[in-house]
Amino acid sequence: MSRAAAGSRDAATGATPVDQDHDDRVTVEVRLRASAWAGHLAEQTATGLRDRPPWTPPVWFYDQVGSELFDRITRLEEYYPTRAERSILAERAGTIAALSGAETLAELGSGTSDKTVLLLDALERRGTLRRVVPFDVSEEVLRDAAATIARRHDGVAVHAVVGDFHEHLGALPTDGPCLLAFLGSTIGNLDAAERRRFLSSVRSTLDGDDRFLLGTDLVKDRTRLVSAYDDAQGVTARFNLNALAVMNRELGGDFELAAWRHRAVFDEEFQRIEMHVVAQEDQAVRLEALDLDLEVAAAGWIRTEISTKFTADQVERELTGAGLEPVDSWTDERGDFLLTLARPS
Ligand code: SAH
Ligand code: TRP
Repeated sequence: MSRAAAGSRDAATGATPVDQDHDDRVTVEVRLRASAWAGHLAEQTATGLRDRPPWTPPVWFYDQVGSELFDRITRLEEYYPTRAERSILAERAGTIAALSGAETLAELGSGTSDKTVLLLDALERRGTLRRVVPFDVSEEVLRDAAATIARRHDGVAVHAVVGDFHEHLGALPTDGPCLLAFLGSTIGNLDAAERRRFLSSVRSTLDGDDRFLLGTDLVKDRTRLVSAYDDAQGVTARFNLNALAVMNRELGGDFELAAWRHRAVFDEEFQRIEMHVVAQEDQAVRLEALDLDLEVAAAGWIRTEISTKFTADQVERELTGAGLEPVDSWTDERGDFLLTLARPS
């Protein structure tokens, strides 16, 4: 596909340009204005790094290199969630398509849209599908995914949105029944307050005939949980440390990558995996763009991600609490992962 328009953003006027790719069935709507987004991230990162213990927002993971590493994570032996969720979709996509009758399939944090294809095929077979809306902050990956979908599916229009799912749900189309998918347990990367806020805003974007499909990873044996985030090949370690490289580049930082080690721990209180980068010796880091100096003593750490693990009851409570009523839910054979279809209550 043509990359000529990639990255074009109208920061000066605040307009949201729609780039038309050469394939006339693909549009890419850019909701993130480069400058505003950068400012927002800088502010969040500065807040996080001044906190104790310090933390950083997850968005630094998903540059081009990070997105490729994540793609490798999804194929690791230890990382069961992708396989488990895919097996549920393989078995239930027909049912989900029938229950939703969707004309639009939208997906938040869609990444490569790998698993989405199962839903897409099922909806296409029912003959209702007209449009696919992949939605992600990572523009490069999104453009590739949009082109791939258009190439493989003649009958659908692809309207990709480069946006933040905390801010830009207004970019989702409102005409016709929509199936809004949020897969990969990305919701687990939000803390309880963020999840409440996020689910309420999902609820307010849905019309009566829209449906929400949520993928959540379930609480299980701690050893399996930890190794899913600390694989033997060290791919997850590279993914985690890459976030420091991205901050060096984007925020004028001087993290010395060799001085930090990847660690994944399960926090029993919050029932979540935490990803840390641990200082191997005393570190002094300067982030020029934030005008911030950070000192971390040997064995001190920064939290780079959380991945909350759920029970089925908890998922139901959180959905219901946000005005979303579960219609049905399914797990894989081993009971590792849960997919829930919900409607506005
Ligand atoms: N849905 C895919 C990818 C999950 S990884 C799967 O199930 O395998 C999480 C994805 O969410 C990444 O593609 C990342 O770029 C995207 N993402 C993270 N934060 C986001 C945000 N605030 N708004 C939109 N997309 C986001
Ligand atoms: N949503 C995925 C999860 O929580 C994202 C993820 C997988 C991830 N492996 C990771 C995020 C490692 C940070 C580090 O399972």
